Amino acid sequence: MKLVVTGAGGQLGHDVVAHADRRGDEVIGLDRAALDITDADAVRRLLGDLRPDAVINAAAYTAVDACETNEARATAVNATAVGHLAGACSDVGAHLVHVSTDYVFDGTLDRPYREDDPTNPQSAYGRSKLAGEVLAGPDAAIARTSWVCGEHGDNMVKLVLRLAADPDRELAFVDDQRGHPTFTADLAPALRRLAVDRRRGVHHVTNQGAVSWYEFVREILAAAGHDPGRVRPIATADLDPPRPAPRPANSVLDNAVWRAAGLPMLRDFRAPLAELIGRLSPERGQTPI
Ligand SMILES: NC(=O)c1ccc[n+]([C@@H]2O[C@H](COP(=O)([O-])OP(=O)(O)OC[C@H]3O[C@@H](n4cnc5c(N)ncnc54)[C@H](OP(=O)(O)O)[C@@H]3O)[C@@H](O)[C@H]2O)c1
Repeated sequence: MKLVVTGAGGQLGHDVVAHADRRGDEVIGLDRAALDITDADAVRRLLGDLRPDAVINAAAYTAVDACETNEARATAVNATAVGHLAGACSDVGAHLVHVSTDYVFDGTLDRPYREDDPTNPQSAYGRSKLAGEVLAGPDAAIARTSWVCGEHGDNMVKLVLRLAADPDRELAFVDDQRGHPTFTADLAPALRRLAVDRRRGVHHVTNQGAVSWYEFVREILAAAGHDPGRVRPIATADLDPPRPAPRPANSVLDNAVWRAAGLPMLRDFRAPLAELIGRLSPERGQTPI
């Protein structure tokens, strides 16, 4: 497969490129310097030249709080540019796999969200990502994921390891937002699978194991050999100052379409978490994969 990955400089894009390369694809990773996806002419020209079989779009404006004060940029990158990609993919017969988010939901449902549950984003980021899903068009695969962590980027695992390195540092994380932590090492193969199979429509794709942020931090601490009792649970309402963008209380995505298609479910998040911590702290004796 000839595969183009946009946003290849990001934590997910980096690992999608690495995975496709390992699988023997002809993969072209484009970071923002190589292709700004908001540049419609550049998108059409480059995809016209490369003529890939598939495009995995891992590019996004992901600064959730900053999106509140810069919704125009969020819309340009997370929505309008996805339309450029979809148009250019259609011109050359490439299958588009577009990555979206749990933040398209308001988080008030009392069970995990299925793909066909009504969306109701509460933040500028969520609105822009939902608009991007629409502009990706009916032929694209939309992969909604959540709480993404990988080796190459900023994420909760790295933050907790950094904070925990200071024994005097007090740790407090919210216990009233739940989701599925998802690791790029497992998400990247799933996205490639969507591309290979040219699957269409919305797919929830996450690791398994629903936890609150507080519970996730306990798991990270334990996996890294720290005392999980160091973290204290707090409520979102106790955050001082409050974060500009509201987060869904329930972010748990039921991978219903993926499961119904008979595709292999991604692992419980604790397995890729242990592997990532092994890679980030090799002195813990785990073999890098
Ligand atoms: N991180 C999460 O917890 C999470 C949760 C759910 C869904 N997602 C989705 O997962 C996908 C990957 O996220 P991630 O965690 O890998 O984010 P990330 O590390 O921020 O990567 C996004 C990449 O997109 C690039 N980018 C921004 N604007 C661009 C443009 N106009 N043209 C081309 N590239 C551009 C960024 O480059 P610069 O750094 O140079 O701006 C960055 O390298 C996104 O679709 C995101 O919405 C993420």
